[in-house]
Amino acid sequence: MPKILNIVGARPNFMKMAPLIAAIQRRSPHVTQVLVHTGQHYDETMSEAFFQDLNLPRPDYNLGVGSGSHAEQTASVMLAFEPILLAQRPDWVVVVGDVNSTLAATLVAVKLGVSVAHVEAGLRSFDRTMPEEINRVLTDQIADLLLTPSPDADANLLHEGIRPDRIVCVGNVMIDTLYHRLEQAEQSRVLNTLDLTPDEFAVLTLHRPANVDDAETLRGIFSALAEIAREIPIIFPAHPRTRTRLQEFGLELPQGMRMIEPLGYLDFLRLWSQARLVLTDSGGLQEETTALGIPCLTLRENTERPITVTQGTNKVVGRNPVRIINAALEILRDARFRQTRVPDLWDGQAAERIIEALLERTRP
Ligand code: UD1
Repeated sequence: MPKILNIVGARPNFMKMAPLIAAIQRRSPHVTQVLVHTGQHYDETMSEAFFQDLNLPRPDYNLGVGSGSHAEQTASVMLAFEPILLAQRPDWVVVVGDVNSTLAATLVAVKLGVSVAHVEAGLRSFDRTMPEEINRVLTDQIADLLLTPSPDADANLLHEGIRPDRIVCVGNVMIDTLYHRLEQAEQSRVLNTLDLTPDEFAVLTLHRPANVDDAETLRGIFSALAEIAREIPIIFPAHPRTRTRLQEFGLELPQGMRMIEPLGYLDFLRLWSQARLVLTDSGGLQEETTALGIPCLTLRENTERPITVTQGTNKVVGRNPVRIINAALEILRDARFRQTRVPDLWDGQAAERIIEALLERTRP
């Protein structure tokens, strides 16, 4: 009987794994699964809240690695995961995304001769100062099966010399979760709690080291946000890393900006899906806003998700305050955003295609 071991570690992993776990459950008892949480994220708001909102099963193992330098975090996952993998010997290890846990688990499995499938393979920002880019490139080089969200990802992999038979375009599994949870998110009371009217506020997320770890860069971004907040209130669920930096740098919140605790999946979905505008440096939110047609400004110099720009609602505006302000004002003054399209295979069925691809390639 095929056995699949799924790895999660950090917040953006949970919504990508949830539909796959459900797809495997639908095939029970013909397929079995094991869930390993590395514990890279551990705060209630960064982890447990998502297990509840997404009905994720309790992990069979929690490695409890927590925070640390990149080397510490990666090494801790490797050391803790190896004995579990030796004991479990699954047919597949499935990793998602580009966090340190993704690369660490892949390295362990590949060296023990266990097949690895990488979900969300092939994305490239071509910016090797981003830790995630290193994790993506290395994971894709050594994983056995590369499951991509869009054709641009396939092209990146082929360009890196990866054989076509290792690549399957399955679509965007995070959008499976988005579509499956939309109705439930409508029950969220978050707009009432925050006293917000749909379409009359903006949402901000900001946590990339390149944006928040340098005082001058963060100050520049906040000067732009202060201008935007004069036009429309900005709601800012703050990542713990960013909250710490703001305190360290003694940066005041601009008038019109409200910093709140990180939200769970359903409350956050309700919040951004009713926003006039989203400002973010997250990867996933660029895709989610494209799926629902919400205008998105990406506060980074590049994106590994170009399809959200060519087909979707995303605009990459970088860190220059003037560019950020102008792009935001343009959206706020324009009643209609330009025509956009949801990319092919972002249809709520990606997890089904993933499990089929895995089972087809499982030795009897
Ligand atoms: C990680 C991922 C990033 C992803 C982000 C989503 C890597 C290299 N980065 O970045 O790709 O976009 O998750 O959130 O894997 N912290 C807490 N509580 C937590 C987790 C973290 O307080 O539950 C604080 C700690 O101070 C920690 C810092 O946040 O040192 C950074 O956490 P870490 O997991 O190293 O990276 P993220 O910035 O969260």
